[in-house]
Amino acid sequence: MTILVTGGLGFIGSHTVVELIKNNYEVVIADNLANSKLEVLERLYQITGVRPIFYQIDVTDEALVEEIFRKHKFAGLIHFAGLKAVGESVEKPLDYYYNNIVSTMVLSKMCLRYQVDKFVFSSSATVYGEQPSPLREDMELKPRTNPYGETKAISERILIDTARANENFAVSLLRYFNPIGAHESGLIGEDPNGIPNNLMPFVTKVAKGLLVKLSVFGHDYDTVDGTGVRDYIHVVDLARGHVRAIEGLDTGVSIYNLGTGKGTSVLELVNAFIRVNGVDVPYEFVGRRSGDVATCFADVSKVERELGWKAELTIEDMVRDAWGFEQGGE
Ligand code: WQD
Repeated sequence: MTILVTGGLGFIGSHTVVELIKNNYEVVIADNLANSKLEVLERLYQITGVRPIFYQIDVTDEALVEEIFRKHKFAGLIHFAGLKAVGESVEKPLDYYYNNIVSTMVLSKMCLRYQVDKFVFSSSATVYGEQPSPLREDMELKPRTNPYGETKAISERILIDTARANENFAVSLLRYFNPIGAHESGLIGEDPNGIPNNLMPFVTKVAKGLLVKLSVFGHDYDTVDGTGVRDYIHVVDLARGHVRAIEGLDTGVSIYNLGTGKGTSVLELVNAFIRVNGVDVPYEFVGRRSGDVATCFADVSKVERELGWKAELTIEDMVRDAWGFEQGGE
């Protein structure tokens, strides 16, 4: 069975490609390298012994996407390719709306035209906006007033309505919480271009001495220690959740939170990183980051009940593997 993975050289995409290959799927990757590197393809070969077919294309380009659908008979598609920096989306809303929504529309159109009847979509907990945790799939969507979150909510709507209008088109919307960590080999991991927006890659670069110190955004939240609480999930657990989602996808629309159901504060994560890896991470408390919420974690009972999947790796696994990748792998 062949699966098209858009954004398959990116952080979550590459880890999902590894798990798909381990489960005997053929994989075709489409990626425009906007936030990934071609060398990841070689590293996927080193890890799996398989070199997936790769197309360097922008999946908003309908003609180029159609050429791939003509060449391959896909059993399904996992759509990761997208712009995903919340702050950047406020500065460049049109880039985000165009790229994230047109790509979803082009891919959906090709799925209908070429009878590809399983579409797994990379969504985000951001669609819940500022609601009390634990967050449940049946909650009303209140995408934070940032274009990134809006593009995820709009893409979900497009896919839900398309599935309703085409009974053979089955959709799985996976809402990620905070993916961190890396493959145990250290060959693939979170490797953002430029200064990291997210906490974990910033921590690993401070630990390595590439950045001077971590700024902890806010120390006065109503949480266990005043710092922000999030639901961190190991990227390999997340990848395994995608394989289970595509296997369990039959008809209609499924919506699942992919998290651990547990909250961890910034200080708890940083201290775990220091303790497990035996390295220092200098930090200072600064003001809150605009748009941040105090606490965000998932209710994960639905995915466990319906797909029989749950996250298994621990915070210690996450910080160990994140450091292993920063150090350059095996
Ligand atoms: C985590 C915690 C920060 C950096 C975002 C997107 C979400 C998803 C994941 C795409 C917060 C604190 C961070 C730093 C800090 N992206 N922090 N210093 O904001 O929970 O989620 O990334 O799908 O959609 O919203 O992740 O890693 O940026 O922040 O103190 O230098 O770490 O305040 O409490 P976030 P994050």
